[in-house]
Amino acid sequence: PRDIEGDLTEILIEEDQIRTRLAELCRLIEADYAGKDLLLVGVLKGAVMVMADLARELVHPITMDWMAVSSYGSGTQSSGVVRILKDLDTDLLGRNVLIVEDIIDSGLTLSWLLSNLKSRGPESVEICALLRKPDAARVDIDVKYLGFDIPNQFVVGYGLDFDERYRNLRSVGVLAPHIYS
Ligand code: PRP
Ligand code: MN
Ligand code: MG
Repeated sequence: PRDIEGDLTEILIEEDQIRTRLAELCRLIEADYAGKDLLLVGVLKGAVMVMADLARELVHPITMDWMAVSSYGSGTQSSGVVRILKDLDTDLLGRNVLIVEDIIDSGLTLSWLLSNLKSRGPESVEICALLRKPDAARVDIDVKYLGFDIPNQFVVGYGLDFDERYRNLRSVGVLAPHIYS
């Protein structure tokens, strides 16, 4: 057990469950992109862990690139207005793009990103997300590769932060309310 786990009330998804599910998703991805190029686009910073593990589990040849975006808004609520902090280095023309995300919360970040990347002339754009909160959705997102649906709780770990902390937790858990309130 690691010390930062002490700030959780509950572990929602254990490290080995994540590994098993990512491996299943990788087999689907390999089948779908057989014979095709594949560019993984990770969304900084939350997607770092899922990108690292997904990419290493894939036997398919891939390239990786990263975007950093920031959504303006009041407090922790995403407004859907997104600003690019770091753009891709890669030209998307004719590429098969798979966006890699840690979580779909309201869906506003991915909704914006999806239309932004689609406007750059790629062959295809799909989404792989480890987590989704169906009860928090404000916009419908078509996720081709989804790890887990989770309840609408404050979760951290495996890339997900509270105030930039807890990203290095190996599991995904519910943060104790006394930490953030
Ligand atoms: C989080 C998370 C997703 C996004 C999901 O990122 O990593 O990218 O919010 O929220 P949404 O579906 O409501 O748009 P955040 O903006 O906290 O940045 P981070 O990845 O650097 O933590
Ligand atoms: Mn993020
Ligand atoms: Mg965050």
